[in-house]
Amino acid sequence: MKILSKARISAIGSYVPNKILSNHDLEQIVGTNDEWIVQRTGIQERRIAEDGEFTSDLCVKAARDLESRFHGDLEDVDMIIVCTFTPDYCTPSVSAMVQKELNISHCGTLDVNAACAGFTYGLHLANALISSGLHRKVLVIAAETMSKIIDYTDRTTCVLFGDGAGAVLVEYDQVHPSFISAHLGTEGKDGANLYCTNLSPEMDGMELASTGFLVQNGREVYKWAVNTIPAGVASLMQGSGLCIDEVNWFVPHSSNLRMISAISEKCEVPLERMLNSLVNYGNTSSATIPLALDQGVLDGMIRAGDKVLIYGFGGGLTHCGLLLDWGIGY
Ligand SMILES: CC(C)(COP(=O)(O)OP(=O)(O)OC[C@H]1O[C@@H](n2cnc3c(N)ncnc32)[C@H](O)[C@@H]1OP(=O)(O)O)[C@@H](O)C(=O)NCCC(=O)NCCS
Repeated sequence: MKILSKARISAIGSYVPNKILSNHDLEQIVGTNDEWIVQRTGIQERRIAEDGEFTSDLCVKAARDLESRFHGDLEDVDMIIVCTFTPDYCTPSVSAMVQKELNISHCGTLDVNAACAGFTYGLHLANALISSGLHRKVLVIAAETMSKIIDYTDRTTCVLFGDGAGAVLVEYDQVHPSFISAHLGTEGKDGANLYCTNLSPEMDGMELASTGFLVQNGREVYKWAVNTIPAGVASLMQGSGLCIDEVNWFVPHSSNLRMISAISEKCEVPLERMLNSLVNYGNTSSATIPLALDQGVLDGMIRAGDKVLIYGFGGGLTHCGLLLDWGIGY
């Protein structure tokens, strides 16, 4: 659907922990090898938070990076949205902890859990809050400490995931609004294909492994994503009035390079126009898209006015795509 927008993405920042976990490191702790991981996923290494480093810490560092690079004044932010499914606590929310650390006095705080689609859902909300006139300046941060919920004896999942954070500022702007069209949906009936339990180890009569670790049926998630995302992109483009050739950059969720290639082929977007953060950071869930966007900005690839298609998908099973008129640099 084409959407009303009076909001512009005006700044970006990111942070990844220092500690690197390479494929060769993983060979020492689980029955895997570099060749298998690279061939099946494209991932070479990922970043891992320290034991005492949590999602709120990553969020604050990403926000400070944004603040220092764009001289963005965060004092008048009136809403902080943190997109995560690996919060420090059930409550207080990560966004409330970030508000405290950034010392922003007059703002609302809200955590959004849409797993790997979190960032696109968070941005969609930020646009709605600003375009409706309710808010003026929203800080959206997507951050995950996946390493805290990964079972490092399960080779089918532990090679895929890493930790990281990305932050963007969304501000009221009627002249250069960023949001062109959106498409989103959920396949709740297939939620058991990618889950992490806490209190309730049952879903639709299916008993879920109540270990507190992430569990997935990789093949089913793969099949769902490579069918659902191209259909979503077609709908998104139809609603926008633009054609796919007019999209400068396509940034799908960085889950797996083989999935990205299949999506590229089905959507008829060449890989040269696609950006990912997978090779060096692995799948950082909600953070993959802002990490890839920030690298694109730092490399001088994404510029003001570019049409940027972002598409998050994952646990839930949720998905959300947005077509953007890139706003940083106007
Ligand atoms: C996880 C994924 C890479 C597995 O690839 P696959 O081709 O489906 O592999 P399979 O699960 O069929 O396993 C094939 C073989 O490799 C083995 N294997 C699994 N993980 C391995 C690893 N890390 N290292 C070495 N071998 C591994 C399996 O045990 C199996 O061996 P077998 O044939 O002797 O039984 C793939 O399914 C995938 O990427 N799915 C999407 C996951 C995802 O991105 N989720 C997040 C979405 S947000």
